[in-house]
Amino acid sequence: MAGLEQTRQLVTEIPGPASLELNKRRAAAVSHGVGITLPVFVTRAAGGIVEDVDGNRLIDLGSGIAVTTIGNSAPRVVDAVRAQVADFTHTCFMVTPYESYVAVAEELNRITPGSGEKRSVLFNSGAEAVENAIKVARSYTRKSAVAAFDHAYHGRTNMAMALTAKSMPYKSGFGPFAPEIYRAPMSYPYRDGLLDKELATDGELAAARAISVFDKQIGADNLAAVIIEPIQGEGGFIVPAEGFLPALLDWCRKNNVVFIADEVQSGFARTGAMFACEHEGAGGLEPDLICTAKGIAGGLPLSAVTGRAEIMDAPHVSGLGGTFGGNPVACAAALASIATIESDGLIERAQEIERLITERLLRLQAADDRIGDVRGRGAMIAVELVKSGTSDPDAELTRKLTIAAHAAGVIVLTCGMWGNVIRLLPPLTISDELLVEGLDILAGILGDL
Ligand SMILES: Cc1ncc(COP(=O)(O)O)c(C=O)c1O
Repeated sequence: MAGLEQTRQLVTEIPGPASLELNKRRAAAVSHGVGITLPVFVTRAAGGIVEDVDGNRLIDLGSGIAVTTIGNSAPRVVDAVRAQVADFTHTCFMVTPYESYVAVAEELNRITPGSGEKRSVLFNSGAEAVENAIKVARSYTRKSAVAAFDHAYHGRTNMAMALTAKSMPYKSGFGPFAPEIYRAPMSYPYRDGLLDKELATDGELAAARAISVFDKQIGADNLAAVIIEPIQGEGGFIVPAEGFLPALLDWCRKNNVVFIADEVQSGFARTGAMFACEHEGAGGLEPDLICTAKGIAGGLPLSAVTGRAEIMDAPHVSGLGGTFGGNPVACAAALASIATIESDGLIERAQEIERLITERLLRLQAADDRIGDVRGRGAMIAVELVKSGTSDPDAELTRKLTIAAHAAGVIVLTCGMWGNVIRLLPPLTISDELLVEGLDILAGILGDL
């Protein structure tokens, strides 16, 4: 959105009167099952700013949960969407196809890790990509069990809920869940290190703990797939110890188990690489299948499963699809988004943002023992808050910090199994000035609490 001033401005309390009015309408009309982080109703957003109906301008450190990585209403996306919507809005790719779907598949096959022949299939949401990756893996291996990890989040559909670790609010009361799902211990360096220093730093050791579950509780002959987020998102921005993911992949390859990387949150330049798998092992990790969504299309709903051709081609014809999957408007946006990431140097920008955020947070941590851990990569950085002098999660401090940040016009999100992690996911188009201002506000609030 051209012309949205890139400064924070508060002209009312947050939320302001117009937002409060709309929030009343929301409560009367929208299912209470949808929780709202911050009830300011948006009129415009661009760069690093979200403007609300009261004329307040908030600093965006959330990107609509890691979606508007290239900025809201990014110019190339706006142009591409306008042109496509004027030509046609839908035919259903399964009925009469169109070129942009094929072009998105070609681009995903090109930019995802792995040099061999690949195929892609498009859907609408991250959860749908996860569901379909499991279908593909089962079809290919003719096996049924699936292993996921502690702290995992894979979405809210039935299979994705089953794969997700945290009960409240994602699963509680919504069962029964899909069967044949097993859970293995994740490498969580901060918390592992409280028990065993070696486990925190030796990823192969942490992998052996998980592989023991695959071997002993499931059996490789029954296991179709291992699904993992290379950096866990909702679970707390947990970056596994070096060597963990390569050891898991190696075991999967030897045992005819499909290794699925869920890069729904970590993909598309977010972590300072096009995909987070690229940070792992010597020369990067090459998963068998990769799930993408969120940052794929500049804010339009689109998701994908991309992977090795022999696995992706296993399902029978018409076994995969969906009415809206790979909608032409979303495909036009995806092509524009990928072009924007590559031509605007946004991977490098994510690396700069990492340096800027972590340098400040580590300085803060050195003076404040309530910051238990600072972790993440690129523009996906979190602080884990604990009670002073302990490693006990401090959800209350996290809640107070978030509420005060929102009141001060800074949009931040929380995550983590214990709700004690503040996560920073700024759009890569945010200015250094806004980012620093946002971080200074958070630091000031934490100091006051
Ligand atoms: C790693 C991961 N997988 C899957 C999903 C589900 O995506 P969606 O909300 O688009 O269904 C999310 C969403 O936060 C996610 O972070």
